[in-house]
Amino acid sequence: MNNTSANILDIKNIEVRYDNVILALHDVSLKVPKGKVVALLGANGAGKSTTLKAVSTMLASERGKVTNGSIEYDGNAIDKQTPSQMVGLGMVQVLEGRRCFGHLTVEENIISGAYSRKLSKGDINQELEKIYTYFIRLKERRKSQAAFTSGGEQQMIAVARAMMAKPKMLLLDEPTMGLAPQLVAEIFNIVKELNTKEGVSILLAEQNTNVALKNSDYGYIIETGRVMLDGTAESLLNDDKVKELYLGISKKGRKNFRDVLKEESLTKKRSN
Ligand SMILES: Nc1ncnc2c1ncn2[C@@H]1O[C@H](COP(=O)(O)OP(=O)(O)OP(=O)(O)O)[C@@H](O)[C@H]1O
Ligand SMILES: [Mg+2]
Repeated sequence: MNNTSANILDIKNIEVRYDNVILALHDVSLKVPKGKVVALLGANGAGKSTTLKAVSTMLASERGKVTNGSIEYDGNAIDKQTPSQMVGLGMVQVLEGRRCFGHLTVEENIISGAYSRKLSKGDINQELEKIYTYFIRLKERRKSQAAFTSGGEQQMIAVARAMMAKPKMLLLDEPTMGLAPQLVAEIFNIVKELNTKEGVSILLAEQNTNVALKNSDYGYIIETGRVMLDGTAESLLNDDKVKELYLGISKKGRKNFRDVLKEESLTKKRSN
């Protein structure tokens, strides 16, 4: 195993197609340095989930395929891995939407994340107690049936379950979708804590641009399957284009990066 690389994840120029024809990603390159939080930002249909599923090798189950480029996880190409092998290697994805087993209790849901590890009952309890130190709300509701917990709690269950697999890297797909601002903040605090205290590297797809960047080290903005802009979280938060297009400080008629770039090149031509 070659794991001396500074990047836990290195995506190089990938192209992804569904059903052999629908081109979902054109040319996406993205790095996640070890121990960092990277945000993958973009509107509906931009290609965020597709990028995450390319990494967790879950595309096949949706008739999708990486048709160009490469992905390295911890210094090794992942093209031959299955999703469960990826989990075994410490790469765990939390899918979009809050997928809990509604008929199981909160605690049973969390424990189900340990299926890939052979743990004794004592080990499981020890892991659980550690996880509950981050998810205090879940500890209080451990015996409740998951179907009757709130949207925010279900999202926490999904992340807590992923932590039971002892990940080196988490792929989080819109963990705060549809949640009230206070819960969004609560979930980001937990994510940040898992990153700093447990050392988990994180790639996070989000539409909540502002709060995502405030809790990340670096960000990528994608539109129709292409990276339009990337930079440190701080530089993106201060970027005029990002402010205008993603942080709601909007000017009339410009809806995406392509419009902005077109306008900029026209202005340049005029001034030449
Ligand atoms: N299983 C699939 N089969 C065919 N096309 C798909 C499939 N999944 C996604 N696509 C297409 O790929 C493109 C990227 O979709 P993707 O789900 O990755 O976007 P996203 O950024 O996650 O959007 P959202 O914020 O709505 O979740 C879209 O054009 C979408 O229609
Ligand atoms: Mg998505």
